[in-house]
Amino acid sequence: MVGSAAAFACIMRGVASEIVLVDLDTARAQAEAEDIAHAVPFSVSARIVAGGYDDLSGADVVILACGVSQKPGESRLELLSRNAEVFRAVVGDVTRAAPDAILLIASNPVDIMTHVTQALSGLPAGRVIGSGTILDTARFRWLLGRHLNIAPRSVHAYVLGEHGDTEVLAWTAARAGSVSIESFAAQIRAPLTADVRERIDKGVRNAAYTIIEGKGATWYGIGAGLARLVAAIGSDEQTVLTVSTLSDVAGVRRVACSLPRVVGREGVTAELMPDISRQENAALEASAMLLKDTFDQLSL
Ligand code: 2OP
Repeated sequence: MVGSAAAFACIMRGVASEIVLVDLDTARAQAEAEDIAHAVPFSVSARIVAGGYDDLSGADVVILACGVSQKPGESRLELLSRNAEVFRAVVGDVTRAAPDAILLIASNPVDIMTHVTQALSGLPAGRVIGSGTILDTARFRWLLGRHLNIAPRSVHAYVLGEHGDTEVLAWTAARAGSVSIESFAAQIRAPLTADVRERIDKGVRNAAYTIIEGKGATWYGIGAGLARLVAAIGSDEQTVLTVSTLSDVAGVRRVACSLPRVVGREGVTAELMPDISRQENAALEASAMLLKDTFDQLSL
């Protein structure tokens, strides 16, 4: 569902000239490709087909959304051993077929799968990009925008660290336009009380659990986020997006987790460390440490 939602979002944004859907279930891939192809006349011309790994040859970007997803109540980290197995089987075929592609990782636990993919492929860290907290950041901006009655686009706020239970909402660095979120909220008399913050924190942190209870999985939000990344790479935008890639974070060496990073044709080329409080920094370090320890326990 995430792969097809990403393909659909790429078609509707007009950010890809050719898309190949690859799945073990070839009939399913074929049907998804045909269904999405019927949206092309309503958007920008593009080709979308189903195929095998060889058909990825020449791709600029490959999105890996394979593996299992969470059942109701299951955490992302609980998927690790099953999805690491899937990635061991898939990454070599992808990099053989498309050695110059930027790899976008969407499967959960996405930070660990990003680290696993970098290790299996040997690609430079900036060319293996996990969707990370791109979606949590969108959820945070959307909820803040609703509270402040401004467009999410005008809310500059980031979720850092794990795409999962230990993620860190960077409240102290959040801005509405160029004004601190705290100050703007006070100006419009919609203060960010402890209750409001808790409601927004839960809304972001638990969003996936709630949606999975209701419909079994999430796909539209992440599909749109992946298409946003494809656009940033395809047009060499040098846009700041919160994504996961291997680097040193909050004193933890060689860990894949999210920070705001600059994304363009060469993948991730720079990262930004927001001005966050000591408490937020400690939470980020704990989140990064958990991911690092979890990866270290995995035998590849
Ligand atoms: C999400 O946050 C389940 O990771 C997926 O929507």
